[in-house]
Amino acid sequence: MGYSEVYKSWQDDPEAFWMDQASTIDWVKPPSRALNADNAPLYEWFTDAQVNACYNAVDRHVENGRADQTAIIYDSPITGKKGTTSFAELQVQTASLAGALRDQGIVSGDRVIIYMPMVPEALVAMLACARIGAVHSVVFGGFAANELAVRIDDATPKAIIAASCGVEPGRVVAYKPLLDGAIDLAKHKPNFTVVLQREEGPCDLIAGRDHDWHDVQVGVTPADCVPVSGDHPAYILYTSGTTGAPKGVVRPTAGHLVALQWTMKSIYNVDPGDVFWAASDVGWVVGHSYICYGPLITGNTTVVFEGKPVGTPDAGTFWRVIEEHNVRSFFTAPTAFRAIKREDPKGELIKNYDISCLRALYLAGERADPDTIEWAQKIMGVPVYDHWWQTETGYTIAGNPAGIEALPVKIGSPTVAMPGYDVQILDDGGHQIPAGELGAIAIKLPLPPGTLPTLWNAEDRFKKSYLNTFPGYYETGDAGMIDEDGYLYIMARTDDVINVAGHRLSTGAMEEVLAGHPDVAECAVIGVGDALKGQLPLGFVCTNNGTEKSDADIQADCIKLVREKIGPVAAFKLVTVVDRLPKTRSGKILRGTMVDIADSKPYKMPATIDDPVILDEIKAALVPMGYAKD
Ligand code: COA
Ligand code: AMP
Repeated sequence: MGYSEVYKSWQDDPEAFWMDQASTIDWVKPPSRALNADNAPLYEWFTDAQVNACYNAVDRHVENGRADQTAIIYDSPITGKKGTTSFAELQVQTASLAGALRDQGIVSGDRVIIYMPMVPEALVAMLACARIGAVHSVVFGGFAANELAVRIDDATPKAIIAASCGVEPGRVVAYKPLLDGAIDLAKHKPNFTVVLQREEGPCDLIAGRDHDWHDVQVGVTPADCVPVSGDHPAYILYTSGTTGAPKGVVRPTAGHLVALQWTMKSIYNVDPGDVFWAASDVGWVVGHSYICYGPLITGNTTVVFEGKPVGTPDAGTFWRVIEEHNVRSFFTAPTAFRAIKREDPKGELIKNYDISCLRALYLAGERADPDTIEWAQKIMGVPVYDHWWQTETGYTIAGNPAGIEALPVKIGSPTVAMPGYDVQILDDGGHQIPAGELGAIAIKLPLPPGTLPTLWNAEDRFKKSYLNTFPGYYETGDAGMIDEDGYLYIMARTDDVINVAGHRLSTGAMEEVLAGHPDVAECAVIGVGDALKGQLPLGFVCTNNGTEKSDADIQADCIKLVREKIGPVAAFKLVTVVDRLPKTRSGKILRGTMVDIADSKPYKMPATIDDPVILDEIKAALVPMGYAKD
């Protein structure tokens, strides 16, 4: 069957389609039905099934002849370390850590936060939680203590598993002071922590609270896999929304297993035994779906890469890893390729490697600009597939189903909707609009298995954020269009979320931090275009009357504050002091117009603007920063 037939088979009978896919998963008790619409418009899948995610990702492969196959390749060009873990070893490691967690009082349904860098133990920690039904919530290492504290208070974990440090090029990032700081800041206190000591930066442990990763496992009876119901949360992953409070995306266990397994062949075109590499981080959804669960569920070998596309040691690292580990399908964000292209525009370094093992490159996480796609295609000599999805969905909404049928690539489009997704373009009134016209991208409910059924402890926020604007639809937060051939184009966000080097960030959260500066009366943060990172945050602050500090000091304070409160990943380095902000007569800050001015795009004078002169002042502030050029 080609793509059209597969898509149609899903359209004709969605439940039969997903029940069919469910046969690829090993169930303790198979589902008797696929969709549960009892609580519509909130939907669940495979609710009456009993299953264990770790069993499907690890144990079943050990039982089915893959015990000696490498499950995880670790490659850290920053520390110079490499290693492999077989499925049999992974089973021993996860069962042992799971046993230690169980002995410390963790039971099914308890939350466990994981704050770890790109080391294989991060996957072991995730899988150990899954083994005993604990709900993990991985927090990205580039977030500061305050962000970790916010997640601790929301997820109320009984335990935190952390590493002593992460390693960034040229610096060791001590995690333990951030962990201690976060626990101090949080109202909720975990019962205990487990800390992996890394020789790059060991830390002190607090007696009675912190356990050493190895010591806590001594003498422990390995834990068996605990069956959970199909709708049991596998994990919570926090992502940026409009406000400073991150949204806790809930991932249901059974749907997650079924859908990810489906994508590994249909989209990424890999078979069990193939090496699959997603160069991302376990702290992001790509890391959850495609460094940990997707490849392991399918019996692939996954690569845990602790490095950067450039500078570790050079822009040839990706090619080296592909060759050395025989990577079949490779997934990363376009920004990584922009970084390589900037360092090695002619693609000289790739000539030193044989990457003929590679079948295709997959890009997602942000808009893939045509220049980058064409350049990657030219130097790598493989198809480059853009695909579009979100933390909320956990896997591809629109992509090129290369494992079913490679569709013609239209550069600038992530191709077509995948089975499970009825993607439509709507106007403000929620009416479908014709091909080629721009509107809000919405997905007809129900969303397919594995997508978020709700937000953690925030059902009303879930409805408000995603379901209320267009009744009967899920609102994606993206705007775009569908062409005559059904190809989708993603043009912009409809909210205050920006995308910095493939990282999803909230300008609202940054505004909340700036507003906390004692000398700041008012502020706005916008996302401006950046050749490397796609977008960068840029802040405007108005100071209180009588402020004694210089503008330069206030700018420096603001940069420091965002780094301290949100973290280095925010990449907040651009800020300017202005007298006033442009607003509508009703007081709404004209952020969209400010973005157009900064990006030197033509803009319409908003009819409701309070004082047009302010736009000239904004432009004057941006020019010395290298923006708003004529
Ligand atoms: N722990 C601590 N700090 C971290 C971190 C982590 N896990 N990850 C990033 N940071 C820090 C960086 O050191 C940097 O700090 P600095 O301001 O002191 O330099 C800051 O956060 C911004 O990091 P980053 O966005 O990674 O920018 P960069 O300039 O270091 O590198 C790229 C730019 C393009 C090379 C890099 O973003 C990259 O490799 N992107 C790949 C895409 C990707 O992984 N996307 C994820 C979703 S698919
Ligand atoms: P995240 O939840 O971090 O994966 O970010 C999801 C958001 O990133 C989407 O809503 C889009 O705004 C953007 N995005 C992801 N993939 C693409 C893509 N292929 N093209 C354009 N934008 C994308």
